Amino acid sequence: MPIRFLALLSLSFLAACASAPATVEASRGPRPLLIATWPFGKIATDLALQSLRAGGSRLDAVEAGIREIERLSCDGSVGLGGRPNAAGYPQLDACIMDGPGHRAGSVAGLEGIVHPISAARRVMERSKHVMLVGEGARWFALEHGVEAVPIEELAERKSRWAAGERPSETDRAGHDTVTLLLVDGAGHIAGGCSTSGAGGKLPGRVGDSPILGSGLYVDDEVGAAGATGLGENVMRYCATFWIVELMRQGRSPQEACEEVVHRIARLDPQGYDLDICFIALDKHGRYGAAASNSRFPFAVATETGSELLHVERVSPRARTGGAQ
Ligand code: GLY
Repeated sequence: MPIRFLALLSLSFLAACASAPATVEASRGPRPLLIATWPFGKIATDLALQSLRAGGSRLDAVEAGIREIERLSCDGSVGLGGRPNAAGYPQLDACIMDGPGHRAGSVAGLEGIVHPISAARRVMERSKHVMLVGEGARWFALEHGVEAVPIEELAERKSRWAAGERPSETDRAGHDTVTLLLVDGAGHIAGGCSTSGAGGKLPGRVGDSPILGSGLYVDDEVGAAGATGLGENVMRYCATFWIVELMRQGRSPQEACEEVVHRIARLDPQGYDLDICFIALDKHGRYGAAASNSRFPFAVATETGSELLHVERVSPRARTGGAQ
């Protein structure tokens, strides 16, 4: 009998080992863990952490952190004080995603709405859709009580643009985005991003930020990734979806972010001259970041506090002929 018992015990031990996630527990980080782009990300992570501590949900925390950056129009690249388009007025993009249920909401080309992230959350929670754009997105935001400013004065700019009267100075460089990812104490993940997009963009241009799998992607089984930088160089590659899939295959968040920069640089005629940066975290509280061609500051927060970190640009790989 004892031998049979021991055999059963060994079998259950082997079965448990086979189904356990490999290696991850050994390198598990703290949870909750929050990560956000740029130095202003520290304001966002701190506000988000405060919201979690006060009993807020993952989504409350993401929304609170990003709303503050929108309110402050940090770096002049988020919110209504962000960079205007070529016709001289801001059109804002945002999205939010929650791991459990794989839920998402997104708005693009939003005019005169103070908190696009709140509009995106309402699209997710109060409509049967995922993405609303332009006038319809503004109507929806107004109907659902998101703070707005009048946009009547934009009509004149729009008709001048339509009539071919173009401002001579439209080159307003810059395209920073606030992207915030978090994994909560239970290992569930959420994220959001918000931006005024590339300065001087054509009216109607939509960047990576409101596009799921480009500016943001969350998968509750694996982790999340977010982007900042020149949207065109992110969205042509579904970059954050790619990062999350590499994490699913066993790469750490750091390895996955770096690998996607290298793979995009390899495919793209511009090589590493891409102006793209990524952040990522996984279910187990590990995080990473990478940038194509510049130093990239980002904020990380845990229950013990937050700090501003940075990565240098990735070291370019030599271009070789074969697939990697
Ligand atoms: N990543 C912001 C944009 O290009 O719109």
